[in-house]
Order: sequence, then C-alpha cells, then structure tokens
Amino acid sequence: MSEIILDTPPVNALGAGLRRHLLAAIEAADADPAVEAIVLRGAGSVFSAGADIAEFAADDMGEPWHPLVLDRIEACSKPVIAAITGVCLGGGLETALACHYRIADASARFALPEVTLGILPGAGGTQRLPRLMGAREALAMMTGGRMIDAGQALALGVVDEVVDGDVAAAARELAASAGRPPIRRTGALPVPADLAEAVAEARARLPVAALSTAPARIIDSVAAITPDFAAGCAVETALFSELRTTEAARALQHAFFGERKVSRIPGLARDVKARPVAKVGIVGGGLMGTGIAIALLNAGLSVIVVETRDDAREKSRETAAKAVERDAAKGRITQTVAESRIAALSMAAGLEALGDVDLVIEAVFEDLAAKEQVFTALDRIVRPDTILASNTSTLDLDAIAAFVADPSRVVGLHFFSPANIMRLLEVVRGAATGPDVLATAMAFAKRVGKVGVVSGVCDGFIGNRMFEEYLRQAYFLLEEGALPQGVDRAMERWGMAMGPLRVLDLAGQDIGWAIRKRRAVEQPDRPYSGIPDRVCELGRFGQKVGRGIYQYPDGRTAVADPLIDDLIVAYSQEIGVERRLIEDAEIVDRCLLALINEGARIVGEGIAYRPVDVDMIYLNGYGFARERGGPMFQADEIGLATVLEKIRALAAGRNGWAWEPAPLLVELAAQGKRFADPNV
Ligand code: CAA
Repeated sequence: MSEIILDTPPVNALGAGLRRHLLAAIEAADADPAVEAIVLRGAGSVFSAGADIAEFAADDMGEPWHPLVLDRIEACSKPVIAAITGVCLGGGLETALACHYRIADASARFALPEVTLGILPGAGGTQRLPRLMGAREALAMMTGGRMIDAGQALALGVVDEVVDGDVAAAARELAASAGRPPIRRTGALPVPADLAEAVAEARARLPVAALSTAPARIIDSVAAITPDFAAGCAVETALFSELRTTEAARALQHAFFGERKVSRIPGLARDVKARPVAKVGIVGGGLMGTGIAIALLNAGLSVIVVETRDDAREKSRETAAKAVERDAAKGRITQTVAESRIAALSMAAGLEALGDVDLVIEAVFEDLAAKEQVFTALDRIVRPDTILASNTSTLDLDAIAAFVADPSRVVGLHFFSPANIMRLLEVVRGAATGPDVLATAMAFAKRVGKVGVVSGVCDGFIGNRMFEEYLRQAYFLLEEGALPQGVDRAMERWGMAMGPLRVLDLAGQDIGWAIRKRRAVEQPDRPYSGIPDRVCELGRFGQKVGRGIYQYPDGRTAVADPLIDDLIVAYSQEIGVERRLIEDAEIVDRCLLALINEGARIVGEGIAYRPVDVDMIYLNGYGFARERGGPMFQADEIGLATVLEKIRALAAGRNGWAWEPAPLLVELAAQGKRFADPNV
C-alpha cells in the first residue's frame, strides 16, 4: 500500500509543485511491484480546495497540466482510493473523481465552484461528474457552484462510502485488504442516459443576457460528452482556455482574492490580538438595529437590544424572532438551532443592561446630540474593555469618540440595510481607534459573515462618498437629455443591480434632499442638478410613499411617470440646456468614471488602504456586478491613461468642475501603472 498526500497548507491547493509531486508519486507507486493499492488524501483537515487560483492569471499555468496528471491517476494499474475529509472542491474534487474509489467522512463537502470564478471545471470535471451522478444533477451542481455534503454525495454516487471516524485509516485498511475495490475508471463509464435532455433543459434556463459566459460554456462542455472520453476532454480544455482570459473570469478572481485581502490591515503589528466577542449590546431597536441583531443571532452571538420605546422594543423582538423562525421553516436551520438563537436574544429598556457585554453597537437616530447621550452613558456603564461601536453613516466618528474618556475603544461599524442580508461592513477607523479594537472589528465582521473593509473618517466614508459623485452625474445626464429609465436601464444592463435613480427612490428621496441641503451650505461651489429637489418639493419621497422619480402602482415595481419626464424636460428648458440624445455608452462612462475618480481620490488620501478595498465595498454594498470586478478593476481594464484622458475631456465640458482628476490617478497613469499595483 502506498499513500500519497496532498500537502500544501492551508487548503492543499493544487499548484504546479503539488501536481509534479502527485504525478511522480503515482508513477512511482504504479511501477513499484510491492504496492498493491494507493490511498490519496489531504494533509490536515481538508482534502483540497482545488487548483491554485493565483495561477489562472499567469500566462503559463505551469507544468504538468492538471488533466494529464488526473488521466495518469485514472490509468493507474492499481486501485487508487481517495480518502476525503473537509472541503473537496474544484480541481480537488476532479482529482478525487479520477480515483477509482472514494471514501468520505461526515465532514466532507463537495463542489465544483469554478463558475463563481468565471471558469469551468477544466480537469475533466465536466466529463467525469455527469458520468457518476447523471447529467442533470451534475449540471445543476456545476452551473450553480452548489456545495453538497457527504450524505448527498453518497446518495448521488459521487462517493462510494461514508465512514464514521478516521477516513484515512479506513482507506488504508481497505487498500491493504484482499477485499480492496476493483479498478473502476470514471472516464470509461457510459455516457449519462439523461445527457441530451438535461443539456436542453439547462440551456433553456440560461438567462438571455449574462455577464459571465461560464454557465453556458459548462453546458457546452457537458454536451460534448461522448463515449470517447478524450474527445470530450479536448472540448473542455478548449472552453476552459477561452474562459480563463475573459473579463468576467479576471473580475471574479479579483473579487475572490480581494475579499480576503481587505481583511489584512497594513502596518498592524503581528502581536496585536483581536479581543473575544461573544455578547453584544445593540442600542436602538429600529430597522437597522433589528437587522444587526438578526445578523448577530445568525452567527451564534448573544445579543441584548436596548430600545426605550415599549412598542418599538416589542416590534424589534418580534421581527428578529420571525426572521429566525422563517429560516427554520425554510429548512435552512433546525428547530433546535432556531430556539437557541431566539433564546440568545434579550431586550432591555435601558443602557444599564449592557454592563457585561464585549461590544456595543449604537444604532440610534443620526444626530450628534443623541449619540452624545448614548456614548457618555455607556462610558459609565460598560466594562473598561468593552468596545464601543457606532453605526453612523454620516457623522464624524472622531467627534463621537470624544464623548468617552478613552477614545481608543471607539470604532465605526457601518452596516448596510437590510443588515442581515447585505454583506458589506464598513469598519471605520477613527483617529484614536486602538489597533486591537480595529483587529477585533475585522474579526467580528468575519464572524458575522460580512466582508469588513476599513475606511478612514471622512464625510460619507468610502462607499457613500463615491456614490455622491455617481449620483451627481446621473442627475446631470437627466438635465442634458436622458430620462430616468434610460439612465437606470443603461447602468443595469452594464452590471449594476439597480440603476442610480431607482436606488434613490428605494433609499428615500428625502434622505438625499437633506444631504443636498447640507452640501449647499458646505460646498456651494459644487452644485447639484435641481431636478431631484423639484421631485422632493412634490412630496415624492420615493418607493415608501408610492411615488418618487418613478411611480409604484403596486408599491414595488418602478414605472416611468410622464409627469416626471415633463418635469425634467421643463427643467432643462428653464436652465437653458438644449436636450440631446444621450447614448447608453456615455451614461455608463460618466457614471463609472465618477466612481473611479472619487475612488482614486479616496485611496490617495489614505481613507481606503488599497484600490481593492474600494472595489470590495462596491461589490458587496452597492450592487456592482461581481463580473465587473469593481470601479478600480474597471479602470485597469480601460487603462489608466485612457481613463485620465476621458476625465480630462469631461473636465473641459459642461460642469467640468466636477471632473478634476484625482492626484493618484494622474500619478499612476504617468508612471504607466495600474490600480492593481498598490493592491499589496
Ligand atoms: N487557490 C489558491 N488559494 C486559495 C484557494 C485556492 N483554490 N482556496 C483558498 N485559498 C487561500 C485563500 O486565498 C486564503 O489565503 P490567505 O490566508 O493568504 O488570504 C487561504 O487559502 C484560506 O482561505 P479562506 O480564508 O477562504 O479560508 P476559509 O476556511 O474561510 O475557506 C475554502 C476555505 C472553503 C477552501 C475557501 O477558501 C474557498 O472556497 N476556496 C476556493 C475554492 C475554489 O473555488 N476552488 C476551485 C478552484 S478552481 C479549480 O479548481 C479549476 C480547475 O478545474 C482546474
């Protein structure tokens, strides 16, 4: 018996080095007359998370080519048994599929998540998995990137056996026994009986317009299955190569690494440790506070919501409990888990209840005096090591920190509504925020399943500050000739989940109005279009009142309103602007360039650590398509010299004052660099 171990911590990714080892080891074992069977397993608690994703960006992915290694495993003249524990993903699962027998333990999880990276399973996955589990199930798993557990894998024929206890020992025992499994080559199994039907069904389900072609190419690759395994693999390889260099693939891989990169805080000393957080107080049981409570309960934390108003307190408790019960009813969690989550929630009328919590998140009304009251009281009540966080989205965090004796314990935790759904958490670093407090906030973000991104203190922080420039352009486009549905449609087709004007209707036009009134005093030289103010003057505050820039006859669906179109046309006339036809390309260009320029300014000022931080904020909090990678990724795609040229051209035009190029953009473009360069 010979044992081959995948050992490249932390996740045994199958980079070129490991593939070389695997090939040499299988050849040696096959040639060794003393070896009767081979066990293949991962070191540590996982089998393998698949190919080394970092290799995809390289021109040369390194030798040996993964499919060749797997063909060699499958061709081995001695039984090869895969012993699977923990994650078995992508190229890891493809490696297991090339083995002759698969044993898993209960911790095993299987997926071919390549679609989430804009590619397809390129190491025989599209050819082997359907032969084992049928084309319909395999297509669903590959086009959706769905994960299955050991029980499902057994039921679907992906694994041959599930054992309790030490799976490697069980595999070794089996390999050494006379009853070792025979050689069964997955690639030699018959073409799945449901192939034609499943392919047709999957094609019919494809969306008409998609930013990533990966799902369609996965189906094409499965459709290429014939009794000639090698011929199908050749099609798979060709399609894999085609996908690897697409914009969507590069963007999705940028997002994968970006979401991990943003958790690294530059300059943070290695010995800085996050504080433990188990019990959290939330001040304010409104929409935001309740959403935060649900997110925390779902992460297994113990939560106390403080809400002074009796009716609001009861409503908050009810909403949180209902959300948990809904998850149980939908089968996402067991009844026992639901009960323990509900039991972990308590409500209180006063801040005194927070004497023993590890973290407090304040989510009261956006008013500095209200925050002062809360923070000065908390300062008296909580333990000296309790971290005090504010969910403010508009106020100066340093001013809030000044309300407590030790401002180093204060940090911003800017959740996005609905807080239990949105993945973004802007972690606001105040001037005095302690390094361990920042580290705790980032660890907390991960714990509650959020992508935490650090922002320095500035008006609007990273996300909303950029959004303001984006909106400014959307409004100018209206006064120059576009109509709301035209702007929104162009942006949605391009890749925003929701166009800018619909977003404002959803958020509430009155909120934007209040900000614009403030800006008119603070920044009189940076005026907005008067159009949204006119909309607000009509009391059209958006979806919540059934009318905003759009009308909402059923309360949800935005329908163009001729009254608003007339208002816009009349406004253009009033300010003496001759309306013109504005193409979608110009709409996308101006809205995107506004995001890029402000993003660059924010990175240049040190408010964001890296351009990738800006991108992760837009992907996770603002509905920017993952397949587009984020504004700064897009700037690199366009080329910084071209971006700068376009911005300079806009600066020479109408409202050119809004287009002063960001110094960082000018600097990088002059050096022929990309935003990816400072992404260390
Ligand atoms: N390649 C390279 N690095 C990887 C990786 C991979 N496949 N999977 C994880 N990593 C790295 C992460 O970047 C991270 O690195 P840092 O610590 O330097 O940031 C480290 O491993 C740990 O990962 P996580 O922080 O994500 O740890 P986790 O415990 O939360 O999650 C995981 C572990 C479930 C394996 C998750 O990392 C994951 O989903 N990985 C990607 C799996 C995947 O998509 N595999 C398919 C690859 S494509 C393929 O295989 C193509 C093919 O057909 C040939």
